Amino acid sequence: MSVDATGEKILVTAALPYANGPLHLGHLAGAYIPADVYVRYQRLKGMDVLFICGSDEHGVPITIRADREKVTPQEVVDRYHAIMADSFRRMGILFDNYSRTSLPLHHRISQEFFLTLHRKGYIREETVRQFYCEPCRRFLPDRYIEGECPHCHASGARGDQCEACGRWLEPEQLIAPKCKVCAAAPELRSTRHWYFALSRLQESLERWQASKPEWKSNVREFCSGWFKEGLTDRPITRDIDWGVPVPLPGAEGKVLYVWFDAPIGYISSSVEWAEKQGRPDRWRDYWLDPRTRLVHFIGKDNIVFHAIVWPAALMAHGEYVLPAQIPANEFLNIEGRKISTSRNWAVWVDDYLEVFPPDPLRYYFEANAPENKDADFTWKDFQARNNGDLADVLGNLVNRCLTFVEKHFDGRVPPAGTLQPADRALLDSVGRSAASIGASLEEFQVRRAVTELMDLARLGNKYFNDAAPWSELKKDRDRCASILNTTLQLQLALSFLMEPFMPHSAEKLRLMLGRPATLEGARWEAVAGLRLADGHPLGTREILFHKIEDPVIEAQMAKLGK
Ligand code: 2FM
Ligand code: ZN
Repeated sequence: MSVDATGEKILVTAALPYANGPLHLGHLAGAYIPADVYVRYQRLKGMDVLFICGSDEHGVPITIRADREKVTPQEVVDRYHAIMADSFRRMGILFDNYSRTSLPLHHRISQEFFLTLHRKGYIREETVRQFYCEPCRRFLPDRYIEGECPHCHASGARGDQCEACGRWLEPEQLIAPKCKVCAAAPELRSTRHWYFALSRLQESLERWQASKPEWKSNVREFCSGWFKEGLTDRPITRDIDWGVPVPLPGAEGKVLYVWFDAPIGYISSSVEWAEKQGRPDRWRDYWLDPRTRLVHFIGKDNIVFHAIVWPAALMAHGEYVLPAQIPANEFLNIEGRKISTSRNWAVWVDDYLEVFPPDPLRYYFEANAPENKDADFTWKDFQARNNGDLADVLGNLVNRCLTFVEKHFDGRVPPAGTLQPADRALLDSVGRSAASIGASLEEFQVRRAVTELMDLARLGNKYFNDAAPWSELKKDRDRCASILNTTLQLQLALSFLMEPFMPHSAEKLRLMLGRPATLEGARWEAVAGLRLADGHPLGTREILFHKIEDPVIEAQMAKLGK
């Protein structure tokens, strides 16, 4: 259904990554590739989509990095914002706007949001006791405190969360707390903070979530666990000097907690987008219109913020749409181990792109998305997927057929002639595949969708082998022409259906078929009707997917953990 008729539109966000390091594969697999696939597909369907992201430039991980490198937090975020924006662009993850939370625009919008909640009585002030480190002369943010987890007794639990058991913590709960910077034992002192009345919104949240049976089970189960424990009011300010200043008299030196301002970044990035368009009110069409479907793509570590705290803040605020869907992916491991950026057990996107094109990685994560359970990236699997599915199945189909047409039909689309049942059966499968790929993507099942795409290419290979145009060439040139024509029509359909998944290769294939690189005007529902005319000149043939040799993969494996 088109936007014009219903006013329906989709506002897609992908979690704002912290600008405290380059982008790695865990980022891509969790939120960004699935989001980009979904957006591209919805656009091909003709939906009005706004795709928003930006760098999360506040928060303690950034100040910790700045302290360690003896630079300012601004220098840290400037560096990584640029690297991340570039990696996204080169991977073909094309946001309508990629903003930054250190912008004055974001500060202003976050402060206004805070003040609205304050005015409506959802924010109250409290004097609390908090850890203060005497040698460092400051109140310690939760992440600057480490100790033993009171639940699972792992050591090295942070003041905000224990990574071993995943529980949220308050720093006072830690056993034997220590300052992470100087290792001194901190002492409790009084300080003032502002609390968000989350507990008052529990009922509304539960009622709202009950109306979302279509949410993924990981999100629903996670939330019902929280509801069962009972939501408590959350402090949303911190004693640090990097962040959005609390806009109240007497709040000098206090900033908003990063998890309070980060999701507001979805709004401020949309506002910035509208301003860049020269239509500064355009963001309202998305955020203030109940016909907007707000979809937040995230990794599972962000569920509580997106499914509970953020919707509660939106409810309290009262003007904006609430999330319609929160597709949350599980984690990605690398070669069987948890990603650790500090131990360099990670694969950096900018490193990857120095050696390989973007699409094989996109394909790998589409086919192995951590949708329902954690997934494992291994370089050998990556090589096998590339050399098998992409080069041997998809690439080979294209190459064999185009070479043949070049050699025996002067590089022009051979006439369709009279089609036989096998030809029609292949062409009929295009419409069915398009429909089922689409249905899978509507349900955020990228893995299933890309498998259906590859099945169509497999069908094409089988058809080509069974029809054996080479054996018809001398016997029955017209029959040979029909077979090649049918195979070329399938490739045209593939060059369209590949677009959400492997946009660079889809474009390359269209050019090889002598079609424009762009897809202006083409529609997903109409893909089965796309045709190359008899005699249409094909473009220049290239290898669609290059095989990856063992030494190349071994060199990548050797970098891990170094
Ligand atoms: O986990 C993270 O990387 C956070 N920076 C995600 C923030 S998502 C949103 F709220 F902005
Ligand atoms: Zn200290």
